[in-house]
Amino acid sequence: MNREWWKKAVIYQIYPKSFKDSNGDGFGDLKGIISKLDYLKLLGIDAIWLCPVYVSPQKDNGYDIADYYDVDPRYGTLTDMEDLILEAKKRDICILMDMVLNHTSDENKWFLEAKKSIDNPYHDFYVWRKGKKGCPPNDMKGTFGGSAWTWNEATGEFYFHQFADCQPDLNWDNPKVREALYEVLKFWVDKGVGGFRFDVIDQIAKVPDEKITANGPRLHEFIREMNEKTFPDTVFLTVGETWGATPELAKKYSSPKGDEFSMVFQFEHILLDQIPGKEKWDLKPLKLTDLKRVFAKWQTELYATGWNSLFWNNHDLPRIVSRWGNDSKEYRTLSAKMLATILYGLQGTPYIYQGEELGMTNIKYDIADYKDIETLNIYDERIHTGYSKEDVMKSIYAKSRDNARTPMQWNSSLNAGFSSCKPWIKVNPNYVEINSESEVSNPDSVFNYYKKLISLRKKYDVFCDGKFKLLCPDDEKIFAYTRETESEKIMVVCNFGEDEVSLGGKLKTHDGKILISNYGDCLEGKLRAYEAYVKLW
Ligand code: GLC
Repeated sequence: MNREWWKKAVIYQIYPKSFKDSNGDGFGDLKGIISKLDYLKLLGIDAIWLCPVYVSPQKDNGYDIADYYDVDPRYGTLTDMEDLILEAKKRDICILMDMVLNHTSDENKWFLEAKKSIDNPYHDFYVWRKGKKGCPPNDMKGTFGGSAWTWNEATGEFYFHQFADCQPDLNWDNPKVREALYEVLKFWVDKGVGGFRFDVIDQIAKVPDEKITANGPRLHEFIREMNEKTFPDTVFLTVGETWGATPELAKKYSSPKGDEFSMVFQFEHILLDQIPGKEKWDLKPLKLTDLKRVFAKWQTELYATGWNSLFWNNHDLPRIVSRWGNDSKEYRTLSAKMLATILYGLQGTPYIYQGEELGMTNIKYDIADYKDIETLNIYDERIHTGYSKEDVMKSIYAKSRDNARTPMQWNSSLNAGFSSCKPWIKVNPNYVEINSESEVSNPDSVFNYYKKLISLRKKYDVFCDGKFKLLCPDDEKIFAYTRETESEKIMVVCNFGEDEVSLGGKLKTHDGKILISNYGDCLEGKLRAYEAYVKLW
């Protein structure tokens, strides 16, 4: 196998809690995933990014790990995990484990020890400060609201947490912490996993005294050491979640030298519909020219110097068809396909988040039905600071992470075929129309369009290697670009909105062969609502 196989791969992300419940307890589980491997194979994916299944109190749905070496009983057993790795391998699919190494749960045995006394051998596994006269050392805030410092009576100190207070930050400056985490990685490599996704990895080298969270001074030193000590010298895929990456930093993370990660997972495009300098809840409409500028920048700057992930969705983001497409009955399928076309023509490794291939949509629940710690905290915080309920709910409908976490819609039977009993979070009522069973059998479905896009990426090298050129950068309606190698050229043309638009100049050309199109054909000189196609020369 080619060492850089992942350049031609497509990765499917599974949020285990919401994927498939095999034992009727309302939570998805590993056996449920195994039962759906053939479905994933049919789609054509090569790897699964499995969100955390380790033992965890689940306050942040597994991103709060209590035991890195075992599987949470809700999901199954270590044997089930071994079976999953094996069954996936039989289908040429590898499993990427989600590694949360910036912090643990406050129920992790390391933290339970650490908080007992300053002499405890685990005390320095975490980040402690005395504070000033009973107050935290500074005014840093946790990502999920509140102070980033929490008081610990037994030691008379505050501990630092960039996320919730139940997620204390690990102290990477302590070599013993790094060694302990490397042991964890080696354990999973020995189990036969094909790679790792590293959660908020750009935040491990924090320096709280200087209010540095992302991109701390020792960050790349730590990543290189981890790479050298733990990544197998064979085909292995690693991807770092890096909210704070610039193309310059991404070239380090994903350098072809291979001393850090295979690829970077950066979010610049995702931040374009929030007011700059404010929080994600502070909404602003997306401007298409901004989106094109950001994609063009990354496509150009990382060409031959790094490698990007391509994504619209993950477990922290709203559903793209509701966000930047159109989830009405009339346009849901067309716009979901249009968005996929934009992404799959680009250079990088595409990620499909469960349900994206069905065109699953956002939800609007009553606040009492939300489960996400971030959503619930921001609701309280904003209501207390005087926002109206209407305003807060508008932001939550648009951005809550629970939009992505509703149960996977398998069929039109009870609970969307996800579980035989009441799911841990409500299903989206539209499962009756939008579900995998009907998508798989309908040749014009979103599912079958994704399947075709995936097979095209494997067939034509230009998708992997072609040089990118943005067309009509100032147009607010059309997203079009070319990719070109010495022997092949593709042109991707998409109408980002509902209005019909006319095509001029280079876009008007009628030659080239249509590789894929969401209307099944294309017209001379104009694009219909959400029309998208790829042509090949
Ligand atoms: C990452 C995860 C998110 C989690 C956070 C803290 O951003 O994707 O789900 O809550 O890190 O681990």
